[in-house]
Amino acid sequence: MNRCIIGLQWGDEGKGKVVDILAEESDVVVRYAGGANAGHTVSIGGEKFALHLMPSGAVRPGVACVIGNGVVVDPEVLIEEIDILAKRGFSLDGRLYVSAAAHVVLDYHKHEDRLREASLGRDKIGTTARGIGPCYADKVGRTFAVRMADLKDLDALGAKLARIAEYKNRVFQAVYGTAGVNAEAILRQCRAFRAKLWPFVCDTTRFLHEAIAASKRILFEGAQGSLLDIDHGTFPFVTSSNASALGMSAGTGVPARYVDRFVGVIKAYSTRVGAGPFPTEQNNEIGARIRERGHEYGTTTGRPRRCGWFDAVAAAYSARIGGVDEVAMMHLDTLAGMESLSICRAYRIGGAETTFFPSDAGDLARAECVYETVPGWHEDLSGVRRYEDLPATTRSYVDRIESLLGVPIVMLGVGPDRCQVVTRNRP
Ligand code: GDP
Ligand code: IMO
Ligand code: MG
Repeated sequence: MNRCIIGLQWGDEGKGKVVDILAEESDVVVRYAGGANAGHTVSIGGEKFALHLMPSGAVRPGVACVIGNGVVVDPEVLIEEIDILAKRGFSLDGRLYVSAAAHVVLDYHKHEDRLREASLGRDKIGTTARGIGPCYADKVGRTFAVRMADLKDLDALGAKLARIAEYKNRVFQAVYGTAGVNAEAILRQCRAFRAKLWPFVCDTTRFLHEAIAASKRILFEGAQGSLLDIDHGTFPFVTSSNASALGMSAGTGVPARYVDRFVGVIKAYSTRVGAGPFPTEQNNEIGARIRERGHEYGTTTGRPRRCGWFDAVAAAYSARIGGVDEVAMMHLDTLAGMESLSICRAYRIGGAETTFFPSDAGDLARAECVYETVPGWHEDLSGVRRYEDLPATTRSYVDRIESLLGVPIVMLGVGPDRCQVVTRNRP
C-alpha cells in the first residue's frame, strides 16, 4: 500500500502527526515539495519534534527518509535536523536519501526573500522568509540555479557562484540599494555542506522505483496545503511549489498510478498564516478562542495563525483536485466548549450561490459565506479512542462535513499525541 498525504487547507492541518501514524506501516517516507518553510509537528508521549525539511518518518527508526527532487533544500537546516535527531536517538545514517536534482537554498535566497517582502510593505505575501520563492525562481530560470549535484565539484561550483554573485549583486544594488552577496563566503559554506551531506545525495527517482519494484510501502508527505499551490491555490498569496497532490509526481519522478490512496488532512476548523483571502476567518473572540485552545502559532515562524470556521467549499475543491480517497480530520478536541459551530457550505458571489471554489482572486475576496450552524459539544475528547464513544453532536459534525466533502473521513484527531486518534471504518 502506497499513500500520499496532503493538506487540504492553507497548511498546518496536522500532516506531520498523520504521517507519523501511517509511517508505522511504511518502509519509506518521501517529501516532494516545499522546503524549510514547512513545520511538521510530531508528538510522542509529551516529547515534541518540529521538522522542517526532514520527512516525519525520521522518528520511526528503520524507515527510509527521502527528500525528493521537488524540494528546495536549505543545507543549514537539514544538517541541524540531522544532528538534533541523532542526539535525540534517531540517527539518519544509512537511511536518508537526498535527491541530487533538488535545488539548494543559499543565503542570498533568504536575503532576497526578506528584501522583497520589506519592499512590499502592506502588499507583502507574509512569507516564512526561508528563501523559498527566490530559490524556485532560480530553478525555473535555470541560469543561476544550484542543485545538490553541484556540491560534487567545488571548483566548478566556485566558478558558478562567482557568476551568480556578480548578477545578484547588480540586481540587489539596483532594486534594493544593497549588494552583499559574497561568492567566496558561500563557497566556504558549500564546502561544509558537502562534507556533511554528500554521503546522502543520490538519484532518488531510481531509489523510489527500485523500492516500488521490491514492493516496499511508500508514504509521500505533502508540505503546505493545496490552497497554497502555486497553480491551483489563492495566487499570489501562495507558496512557490505545487503543494497540492498534483506536485507529487513531478517532485519525485513517481507517477500517481503507484499511489493506492490519497489521504487529505483537514483541521476541524480553518487556519491561515500570512496574507491573502480567507472567507471564513473569524477575526474576533471566536477566532481568538480557537487560537488559544488549539495553540495556533506557527511551527516555523511563531506567528499567530488566523483562525475561522470550517470551509467546506475550499476543502472540497482541494479534495477534488487532489483525487482524495479519504480524509483525516484533526483538532476535533479543540472545538469543545462552544455552544454552536458554523460550517461554510457555499459562497455567495455577486448574488449567485456557488459550491465550487473560485479561481479568480477577486471573486474569492468578494465571496460571502453561506453558513449552516450545528450544535457544539462540551465534553473533553482528548481521552476518547473509539468512534462510538464520541458525543452524538461531535459525530453529527463529522458526518455533515463528510457529506459536504463527498469523501469518507477515516481518522479523527483528539489531541496532539500520536496516540490521540480515533479511527473510523468507512465503506
Ligand atoms: P502540519 O504542518 O500540517 O504538520 O501541522 P503543524 O505541525 O504545523 O500544526 C499542527 C499542530 O496541531 C501541531 O502543534 C500538532 O502537534 C497539533 N495537532 C495535530 N493534531 C492535533 C489534534 O488532533 N488535536 C490537537 N489539539 N492538536 C493537534
Ligand atoms: P506546513 O507544511 C502554513 C505560507 C506562508 C505564506 C505563504 C508563502 O507546515 O503546512 P513561503 O515562505 O512559502 O514563500 O510563504 O505560504 N506557508 C505556510 N503556511 N504552513 C506551511 O507549511 C506553510 N508554508 C508556507 O505563511 O503565507
Ligand atoms: Mg506546519
